[in-house]
Amino acid sequence: MSRSGKVTVVGAGFYGSTTALRLAEYDLFETVVLTDIVEGKPEGLALDINQSRSIENFETKVIGATTTADGGGYEKTANSDVVVITAGLPRKPGMSRMDLIGINAGIVRGVAENIAKHSPNAVVIVVSNPLDEMTALAQIATKFSYNKVMGQAGMLDTARFTNFVAEKCGVAISAVKTLTLGSHGETMVPVPSRCTVSGNVLTDVLSADEIKDLVDRTRNGGAEIVALLKTGSAYYAPSAAAARMAKAVITNSNEVMPVCAWVNGEYGISGVYLGVEAQIGKQGVTKVVESNLTTEELTSLKAAAEAVRTKQADVKNL
Ligand code: NAI
Ligand code: 2OP
Repeated sequence: MSRSGKVTVVGAGFYGSTTALRLAEYDLFETVVLTDIVEGKPEGLALDINQSRSIENFETKVIGATTTADGGGYEKTANSDVVVITAGLPRKPGMSRMDLIGINAGIVRGVAENIAKHSPNAVVIVVSNPLDEMTALAQIATKFSYNKVMGQAGMLDTARFTNFVAEKCGVAISAVKTLTLGSHGETMVPVPSRCTVSGNVLTDVLSADEIKDLVDRTRNGGAEIVALLKTGSAYYAPSAAAARMAKAVITNSNEVMPVCAWVNGEYGISGVYLGVEAQIGKQGVTKVVESNLTTEELTSLKAAAEAVRTKQADVKNL
């Protein structure tokens, strides 16, 4: 099997290290680089992952690199095809994602500038929170074209919705299709009209109250896990989502997935990073895909766009 390409995961915390492991286990990339500012942490985790190769049967090599705020160590990330930015603080119980904006903006800006310098052709996938704002900031700081910078949220929120629907209906995960759009936050827009259970529309399978409960639980999906963990936030499902996006880029699969992408006219919305379905390939977002929404869903999506637009406008000053 031939492997190609280089992916860098910035931040070797729970999200980053799990993402690096998933990417390595795909056995698609030539190299996975894992970085962090904590000296020795990425090198130690890379060594650990490499030592699992003979057990899990993959050849992809993982390289750990300690980096510094002034860009030291970034040479090991040079010419990456894809970069996943996970650097930043996670939430504590009771915190909203927006409470992280001050500290994470400084981290994401610095990381993005270093990435742009060393990997000018990369596709960047942002996961640091608050997601929609950090994605906008990464585009500003890299000065990359909008299609080359996207955020991970919709894949995760959709996967959570799917899990809740499958459990509620007592069916296999594979029997359920769901979709969430909008922001990774209060204005997340689960889309019941696009959800099916064994091919039947969700509204024919569950009552309006039951759907509302699942929608609410999805919207609070991250907070539910933060409250249970007490320290740190979710990373197994989040890392699966980011790794799938990186895979779609490197394989140029043109898969359609819900991601945080630059919207320019679709749904009558322009000039904002927003959770929408998009086609993902080697150039990043190759197309934003519009689907038929109910009037209520479209109104919610437009409201989400206006809510994140205001906050994204402020990030250039952070
Ligand atoms: P964590 O605390 O386990 O790891 C964060 C890592 O970033 C730490 O190892 C830290 O040393 C590192 N870091 C800080 N500044 C850095 C820099 N300048 N360069 C490189 N590394 C740096 O946190 P975790 O769980 O990995 O979460 C990371 C981020 O992802 C958080 O902001 C969290 O809120 C976000 N997140 C986003 C999700 C999404 O769906 N978009 C889902 C889950 C988490
Ligand atoms: C999540 O949704 C905290 O954004 C993170 O799990």
